[in-house]
Amino acid sequence: MEENYEDIMQKLRKYNQNDFIEVVNKLDSIDRRFILNQVSQIDFEEIKSLYNDIGKNEEKTNSIIEPINAIDKSKLSEEEIKKYEDIGTKIIKENKFAVITMAGGQGTRLGFDGPKGAFEFDIVNHKSIFEVLCDKFKEAYNKYGVYVYWYIMTSVENNDATVEFFKVNDYFGYPKEKIIFFIQGKKPMLTPNGNLIVNEDKRLKLASDGHGGIFRILQEEKIVDEMKKEGIEWIYMGGVDNVLAKLIDPLFIGVAKDKNMLAAGKSVIKNCPEEKVGVFVKKNGRPSVVEYIEISKEMSEEKNEDGELKYGEGHILCNLFNIEVIEKTSKEKLPYHSQFKKCNYVDKEGTIVRPDKPNAYKFENFLFDVFEKLDDMVILRVKREEEFAPIKNAEGVDSPESARKLYNDYYNKINKV
Ligand code: UTP
Repeated sequence: MEENYEDIMQKLRKYNQNDFIEVVNKLDSIDRRFILNQVSQIDFEEIKSLYNDIGKNEEKTNSIIEPINAIDKSKLSEEEIKKYEDIGTKIIKENKFAVITMAGGQGTRLGFDGPKGAFEFDIVNHKSIFEVLCDKFKEAYNKYGVYVYWYIMTSVENNDATVEFFKVNDYFGYPKEKIIFFIQGKKPMLTPNGNLIVNEDKRLKLASDGHGGIFRILQEEKIVDEMKKEGIEWIYMGGVDNVLAKLIDPLFIGVAKDKNMLAAGKSVIKNCPEEKVGVFVKKNGRPSVVEYIEISKEMSEEKNEDGELKYGEGHILCNLFNIEVIEKTSKEKLPYHSQFKKCNYVDKEGTIVRPDKPNAYKFENFLFDVFEKLDDMVILRVKREEEFAPIKNAEGVDSPESARKLYNDYYNKINKV
């Protein structure tokens, strides 16, 4: 233990962790020692500010929100498409491009018992989401003659199961040295009065720090350094659950490079003003994604001279970064967003409690908060039916069923051409 027992207790008292102390004092000596060792590594000033800031990042601010310009892929000429694709193809062929799939989420809404990527998406060919994504890398190999590096961000909870899933499936026939797993960071969860929590395994309750934690962990785990050594300059980052995402898209890379931008994001136009997706905007002159609650009903309904929604560029978590941006932003702080979630815990009597409603705060960084650190970025508007088939819910909207339909419709269409 870095600090002795009394020092840690004193620190806990200083930061008003009295409820937590009571629970810890009921644990047996082995568990207590373990948990206090975890506590000794906590930055309590950070915990204090996380607690004080609860809800603040979700408040409406007085920022100046303006529409952002997007390049509409469907309006590009054949020459433009060729120009961009040639630029991107060169980058891919020179091994300067890699993909990161963020697969550290909990997938609570889908309710699948296992990593979301292991969910059987293609029920005809018995292919998991991971295999469907891997097919895109194999296709890219056939086109460009290179095995693109595939980095997969997991969480402490699903890492072992994810790695094992790839192993038993023989990495879906992709070279295993090209698939690299890393585990995302964690933050302690807090009770409504700001106390730490003992989880059902008598350990400190920690939870994933959100997809925006990716920049910090890439730096901490020295993955950025490895990428640089490999000569990687451009990195696509996307969620695990969009089966239509074009992970290796020379056009996307080419547009960013040609426009001298260090980041790019794909958008799809919102279905309707009420659709609950974040939208790309300019916030105080910088690119940003604002949640639907951050813009008024009137603004969400406003149209431009072309009759399109002025604030309609839906963010679909398909983004591209130059390694320079990752290096720079990994050292900067992103805001934490708090969410009130359910979490099992040990109470002061030493009993394990499994609440049926939310009881604790979880703190997450959002990837798109990094955009505000940039002067500008490219927004490439793509067609929903070509690039966006998310799997979020077990049934209905954004479910395996709706994604299968979109996926099959798309491939039936392109195979007919
Ligand atoms: P979502 O916000 O949709 O969350 O993540 P989720 O965990 O998949 O699903 P719910 O909300 O619990 O139902 C969008 C993408 O970001 C990844 C997810 O794996 C998904 O690909 N993600 C999310 C992470 O990698 N880490 C996180 O901490 C959160």
